Amino acid sequence: ESTLGAAAAQSGRYFGTAIAAGKLGDSNYTTIANREFNMVTAENEMKIDATEPNRGQFTFTNGDRVYNWAVQNGKRVRGHTLAWHQQQPGWMQSLSGSSLRQAMIDHINGVMGHYKGKIYAWDVVNEAFADGNSGGRRDSNLQRTGNDWIEVAFRTARAADPAAKLCYNDYNIDNWSWAKTQGVYNMVRDFKSRGVPIDCVGLQSHFNSNSPYNSNYRTTIQSFAALGVDVQITELDIQGGSATTYANVVNDCLAVARCTGITVWGVRDTDSWLGSGASALLFDGNGNKKAAYTSVLNALNSG
Ligand code: G3I
Repeated sequence: ESTLGAAAAQSGRYFGTAIAAGKLGDSNYTTIANREFNMVTAENEMKIDATEPNRGQFTFTNGDRVYNWAVQNGKRVRGHTLAWHQQQPGWMQSLSGSSLRQAMIDHINGVMGHYKGKIYAWDVVNEAFADGNSGGRRDSNLQRTGNDWIEVAFRTARAADPAAKLCYNDYNIDNWSWAKTQGVYNMVRDFKSRGVPIDCVGLQSHFNSNSPYNSNYRTTIQSFAALGVDVQITELDIQGGSATTYANVVNDCLAVARCTGITVWGVRDTDSWLGSGASALLFDGNGNKKAAYTSVLNALNSG
């Protein structure tokens, strides 16, 4: 196959990208995105600040622009993200305790209700674990509402849209030897054992010199999958853009049946949150295919 989406589909997987609503008027961008990818994540437009700028007042203008572009072009959509300590609107940042807990529940119901039946998978909770060696939760206003906030979010999400897969999504949980990975693994194992509804783990997979790709990535994917959840690579980018590392990531996903798809976090290097100097994506700023693109396509075609 000659595109990433079609190549991934040979094994029943998808290949996606983050899409920014503000770039949908750029035909270089939309031509590549439409040709190559068959899954879309809104880079910012479905986040808390974007969808509920005032408490109880939901706005889906930009989220719907991304959603409609995707669906009109035959792509599925991952929802990102419902409960997160970042990109909270000011009103939410100032809440705590039971009123924040209720606001979280209301937010999940409001956004998932709007997109009910339309989303392949939601990142229900994003980045709730601490960096470093504790393996524990990150301190945040949501965490201070009580340790059960994550499972409440997942139970709320299941009821709001039973058709959507429900994912826990985080960065630096790619390396199996890291405490943060083990912390998330233990939470997912606990959720599965107690019947808390969770269907997938999102490995963001932002690789850089401080958190480089490690060959135990495949062990991480296998280990989560063995708990009975899908694994999705949700925000892939590799600082420096190594073609070899990109191929390793793809091959590690292809090696695990329950690794169901890969999303890169942007189309061209100029679209990356890291800036174009990081050279972290598969297309250069002019939209030309990079060596990493060819390496990913070949890996998908030979897997
Ligand atoms: O749209 C405003 C614009 O009006 C304003 O003039 C400008 C000046 O600051 O800001 C623009 O908003 C920015 C937005 O991106 C759109 O470009 C925000 O400041 C900026 O904070 C925001 O960054 C996003 C970041 O999440 C926020 O946390 C990145 O685009 C987005 O790629 C990044 O994505 C995250 C995932 O959601 C979660 N995992 C990590 C990943 C990378 O940080």
